Amino acid sequence: MGTTAADWTFASLVGDTESFFAQHFDRQPLLRRGALADRVRDLITVDRLDDVIALQVVPPAYVRLARDGQGLSSKAYTRTTGDHATGLAETVVPERVYELFRSGATVTWNHLEHLLPSVRHLVDLFADTFACPAEVVGFLTPAGHDGYAPHHDPVDVFVVQIEGTKDWQVWQPPADRRGDSARYPADRLGEPALRTTLHPGDVLYLPHGTPHAAAAREQVSLHLSVTVAPRRWRDLLAETVAELLRDEAFHAVPFLGGNPSGAVDGAADGGRRSRIADRYREKVADLCARLTALAPEDETARLAAVGRAQAGVDRPREFARLARLDALTAEARVRRTGTPVELGPSRDGRTPLLVNGHRLAVPDAVADTLRALDRGGSLRAGGFLAGAPEDRSVRAARQLARLGVLQAADRAED
Ligand SMILES: [Fe+2]
Repeated sequence: MGTTAADWTFASLVGDTESFFAQHFDRQPLLRRGALADRVRDLITVDRLDDVIALQVVPPAYVRLARDGQGLSSKAYTRTTGDHATGLAETVVPERVYELFRSGATVTWNHLEHLLPSVRHLVDLFADTFACPAEVVGFLTPAGHDGYAPHHDPVDVFVVQIEGTKDWQVWQPPADRRGDSARYPADRLGEPALRTTLHPGDVLYLPHGTPHAAAAREQVSLHLSVTVAPRRWRDLLAETVAELLRDEAFHAVPFLGGNPSGAVDGAADGGRRSRIADRYREKVADLCARLTALAPEDETARLAAVGRAQAGVDRPREFARLARLDALTAEARVRRTGTPVELGPSRDGRTPLLVNGHRLAVPDAVADTLRALDRGGSLRAGGFLAGAPEDRSVRAARQLARLGVLQAADRAED
């Protein structure tokens, strides 16, 4: 014990990552028995889903229900709640969800990472690994019922069994996998390539386009599916071109209209069209030159960074940071953040300082220390103002930290 879902790595789920990417990723399913063992309950439990459904306002977009493989209309388990300030909103009615679940409906939770921090960490792990957004969908299936009819999904799916057991049938991905999800009539698929029962802690990877079907057995089954939308070459290249096209060179608005038939003044119109064609040729040549000039290593690194930024992996923890600052002691070490600070000329012992739109005047000693820290390194908060009492130094350091100018440094060499 003593671990949390925050300690997991991608390898916790798939094992040796090198062999996963060489043999399974985008190719064939992977089944890992007991990959997470009973640690899966650090991530989520059935009890937590009771807590979530009991939240006063769960928007219907988060919850879907299906029975006998068919989706149910959200009208069956939502109601309109009126509010003078915000107008009307649809919310999920827990009693109706429970009733439908008792009568055999599977409850599906979209974007569970929006609701549970432990699940958010799991999503970050995937977004970081694949450099693109990921989503966690929870499936709670009553004992003895099918979840969804045989189908494939347009995304890569990592199934993590949490509670109970689930029987899976998985068919070989077809050679020609196209996007979009699709359902299969039961007689079209033939013998499954894999027939297995997942137990808590088991992990099953299905590349996008892999036909599959699942059913719960004698117990309630809870599993999470982490879905990752593949970024194809066309997506990556489109992003590269879009970035290049942001340049001023492609900003002007050409006139493409005019006399469509050319009947009124054929010669003038023909001349105009050929000028437009020439300009177009120049723009294409310009774009090609810019594309060829890109360093592939730099551009692929940028594409990875863009994907991670879309996924919000590096989200700030500002409340926690501010709360920690208030506990900053004289012995704590501080260093500069990357936030730009402008220092003006000193006057009457004070130096004007501009940071994040805040304008203030600080004692010259503060400005001197900031200039020194700009060159790197860290110092004790208690010694922040040379020659001043420790408590004054700490107060100054805290204030600058709140403004985003300073941050805590873990070690002296930070
Ligand atoms: Fe699926």
